[in-house]
Amino acid sequence: MVGKRHLLADNITRIYHDTDNKQVHALDQFKLEITRGEIVALVGPSGCGKSTFLRLVAGLDQPQSGTLSYNGEMIAGPHYDRGFVFQDTNLFPWLSVYDNIAFGLKARRVFKQEQAKVQEYIELVGLQGFEKAYPHQISGGMASRTSLARTFIQDPGVILLDEPLSALDAFTRMAIQDEIIKIWQRDQPIIILVTHDIEEAVYLSDRVVILSSRPGKAIGEVTIGLQHPRDRTSSEFVRLRREIMAILECCNKSKL
Ligand SMILES: Nc1ncnc2c1ncn2[C@@H]1O[C@H](COP(=O)(O)OP(=O)(O)OP(=O)(O)O)[C@@H](O)[C@H]1O
Ligand SMILES: [Mg+2]
Repeated sequence: MVGKRHLLADNITRIYHDTDNKQVHALDQFKLEITRGEIVALVGPSGCGKSTFLRLVAGLDQPQSGTLSYNGEMIAGPHYDRGFVFQDTNLFPWLSVYDNIAFGLKARRVFKQEQAKVQEYIELVGLQGFEKAYPHQISGGMASRTSLARTFIQDPGVILLDEPLSALDAFTRMAIQDEIIKIWQRDQPIIILVTHDIEEAVYLSDRVVILSSRPGKAIGEVTIGLQHPRDRTSSEFVRLRREIMAILECCNKSKL
């Protein structure tokens, strides 16, 4: 059941200190509002604060100023309703694929009631036959699928994807992109996808938010009004890619 989903980042600022104690403005007055289960892609130059923003939404870090709330409540720490898929899958090496995927259900003591979901998600991401394998026995693509299933199975309201497919070959990446859409259409979470792959952003998202170089600010937004499944070779798809590239190049000319 899809409840109300509303994520609000209003003027948030995050300043770090480097090893010389100099200030590093990662995000400056960054704004983003997501009012329903849509997929929003964040693209921008390296170091512009994309991962910083995901960490703040996950509750792993706090902004120095501004408002960051989910469903009207300030985000004060991590919660299973806001799931994070990291680039380096972070699977538990001592657990099988099945147990990695079941981990969150067990931690929340709902495994008994929800046990059937484990097999369901294993099938959704095409991992049947590998349930007993350990992370060192599976490919990078399978590890990504395990990591995605481990997060999606919790049915979070918000899913944060930090370049989850960037280490994979193009063919595997395309297959997993379709799996992400399949699960998203079923569960309708808000997904915030950080990617350097403009094609991936246009293929998956409803909106692409373009950030400036550090300190990251939203400098443009492109709505992708295409139905799924999308045709990467259609003239509209190619036009949207070009539009995003043009904003990125124009506003970050000196930094790219
Ligand atoms: N814990 C930290 N301490 C000090 N500086 C940090 C810390 N975390 C991030 N930074 C700095 O904040 C800036 C933003 O980092 P962030 O990881 O959010 O960038 P990003 O947009 O995700 O980059 P990339 O595309 O390369 O992953 C960078 O300059 C980084 O060096
Ligand atoms: Mg990053």
